[in-house]
Amino acid sequence: MTDHPAAPDLSAKPVLIGERVRLEPLGPEHVDDLLGMVTDPALDRLTGTHTTFTREQLVAWCGSRGEQDDRLDFAVVDPVGGEFLGDLAVNDWDPDNLVAGLRIALWKRHGRGLGSEALRLVLDHLFDVVGAHRVGLEVVEYNERAVAAYRKVGFREEGRLRQAWLWDGERYDVIVMGVLSTDRQTGARAVGAGR
Ligand SMILES: CC(C)(COP(=O)(O)OP(=O)(O)OC[C@H]1O[C@@H](n2cnc3c(N)ncnc32)[C@H](O)[C@@H]1OP(=O)(O)O)[C@@H](O)C(=O)NCCC(=O)NCCS
Repeated sequence: MTDHPAAPDLSAKPVLIGERVRLEPLGPEHVDDLLGMVTDPALDRLTGTHTTFTREQLVAWCGSRGEQDDRLDFAVVDPVGGEFLGDLAVNDWDPDNLVAGLRIALWKRHGRGLGSEALRLVLDHLFDVVGAHRVGLEVVEYNERAVAAYRKVGFREEGRLRQAWLWDGERYDVIVMGVLSTDRQTGARAVGAGR
């Protein structure tokens, strides 16, 4: 039995529009950009990617995102020219507990506030429209820019998975972070709101 008789799914695929980024449903038109991003070795150390993706795999992936009712996959694009900047996924949606996971990777224009704007857009959607209670993520300890961006939008550190990350023969902690709908009501929204 569920506490939420009308527990929502994520079958509706919104377009989320901000001042400097637009989040649009990931689809077949993003395959080439996504291929460029996932084959850029500069991102692997930050995202922990050990997998090599083929174009065929990405065609299948992008072509099937619209059918998923338990996740949202967005392309992050420039709202003016439409340039592909990265991707953002809401995954592991648990409608019984109203809990979701999240991951983001910008391929271009890091450190200019675009990532935090994209995160705020998706958190607003999850908390205000979908009715989520908690959004969680994991980030490797050396990814300080990502940790700072997550903190700016209200995520808090909740714990560490000690030495859970192996990269180039070295082990690192993974930081578990989360933000609650109630955190935002008590001021999380104001964090970094000056941007
Ligand atoms: C993580 C990511 C989405 C953040 O987006 P972004 O646009 O770069 O982030 P923002 O500019 O909104 O915020 C970054 C903050 O980190 C700060 N920062 C940058 N480098 C930093 C560092 N080495 N240490 C601490 N803070 C740092 C910036 O000053 C900024 O804070 P401020 O606005 O208060 O000055 C983006 O950098 C990204 O996709 N990186 C590559 C992939 C990745 O790391 N994904 C996350 C995997 S968990």
